[in-house]
Amino acid sequence: MVKSKKRALITGITGQDGAYLAKLLLDKDYEVFGTYRRISTPNFWRLQYLGIKEKITILPLELSDSSSIITAIETSQPDELYNLAAQSFVGASFENPIYTTDVSGLGVVRLLEVVRHHCPQVRLYQASTSEMYGDNRSGLLSEETSFIPSSPYAGAKLLAHNSVKIYRESYNLFLSNGILFNHESPLRGLEFVTRKITNEVAKIKLGLSKSISLGNINSSRDWGYAPDYVEAMWRILQHSEPLDIVVATNTNYTVENFLDAACKHAGLDYKDFLKVNKKFLRPLDVNYLRGDNSKAKDVLGWEPQVTFDNLVKIMVDSDIARWKAYKEGKHMPWDALHYPSENNMISFK
Ligand code: NAP
Ligand code: GDD
Repeated sequence: MVKSKKRALITGITGQDGAYLAKLLLDKDYEVFGTYRRISTPNFWRLQYLGIKEKITILPLELSDSSSIITAIETSQPDELYNLAAQSFVGASFENPIYTTDVSGLGVVRLLEVVRHHCPQVRLYQASTSEMYGDNRSGLLSEETSFIPSSPYAGAKLLAHNSVKIYRESYNLFLSNGILFNHESPLRGLEFVTRKITNEVAKIKLGLSKSISLGNINSSRDWGYAPDYVEAMWRILQHSEPLDIVVATNTNYTVENFLDAACKHAGLDYKDFLKVNKKFLRPLDVNYLRGDNSKAKDVLGWEPQVTFDNLVKIMVDSDIARWKAYKEGKHMPWDALHYPSENNMISFK
């Protein structure tokens, strides 16, 4: 008898993690469905970049609209559901707190209601986050550490995280939270600090820019490599029981360390280019994040493969190669050309 393929539905497939996870699942011979938002200009560059856009069935889904969630789930009939969709930029959550809470928090409750009534057999992965730990922390942060959220985004994600636990216990559903620390890649959005740095360093190296403006350069993060982290997501859903688990590298570096490493790799000195601009400071920031991956090692057999230094090199090399190709007149799926200069962008405090 021919065994039918496993079916996976990824919400937020147009984002960094959605694209890498789709690639991983296709390589494992899954039938992959992915959701996008109806926006005026299609946003499929990451799927095109990885050469997988035509292999995925794309469905519309808006987390503020329950009917679209029902339709996506009924159409795809997934065995595994990865909920990666969110308003994921912490800075923007201070500008749009109600929208962020609606989408990244309440949107997950809407999704859980649909799961409960329409596909209770599904295994669900929820994209929880280290941002829930909040500020003023130290040491290694684990599954046992309390959450003290410091942004509307973190508050919304904690609502989602707790709702997953409540639905799991109330209705005996297979629902897992992956508490992922920051993970980056050449497909990272340009508003996040790592990619902002590697994109600007590439432009400075090629004579296309003269400076880089940042906010809180003393903040530290536990930065891993996104393709490693989507492997952890998949392992979480293959585990025999649903669970909540930290995915991290156990190391952390400051934003200044990242900038220094990126500039050194490009043969530059960051002190020649750095401008600190208050515009990029948040009303409240998380200054320290460092995760404890012992449970992920023990239970999932997962370990990060890419070190901090290698991550920086991968991202700088990739952005330099893209800007070089652009200068040579080559066309490729890419976000940077269409991103406005942050000099012209106003933030409201
Ligand atoms: P991302 O690149 O910002 O992708 C977010 C995805 O969500 C995009 O596909 C986006 O669509 C979609 N989306 C946004 N608003 C939506 C809405 N109202 N309805 C439906 N879809 C919507 O984020 P990521 O870095 O891949 O992260 C994936 C998930 O993991 C997010 O939930 C994030 O909060 C969480 N997380 C990320 C990290 C990290 O370091 N990357 C760490 C911990 C947790 P558009 O493309 O149209 O904007
Ligand atoms: N974005 C940005 N831009 N951040 C800056 C800048 C700047 O110019 N200058 C300094 N930073 C600091 C921020 O204040 C923050 O302390 C740190 O750099 C990291 O900011 P982001 O790269 O925007 O990421 P994040 O840690 O706030 O959030 C990311 O990681 C979370 C997991 O901890 C996102 O991916 C979230 O979705 C994710 O949950």
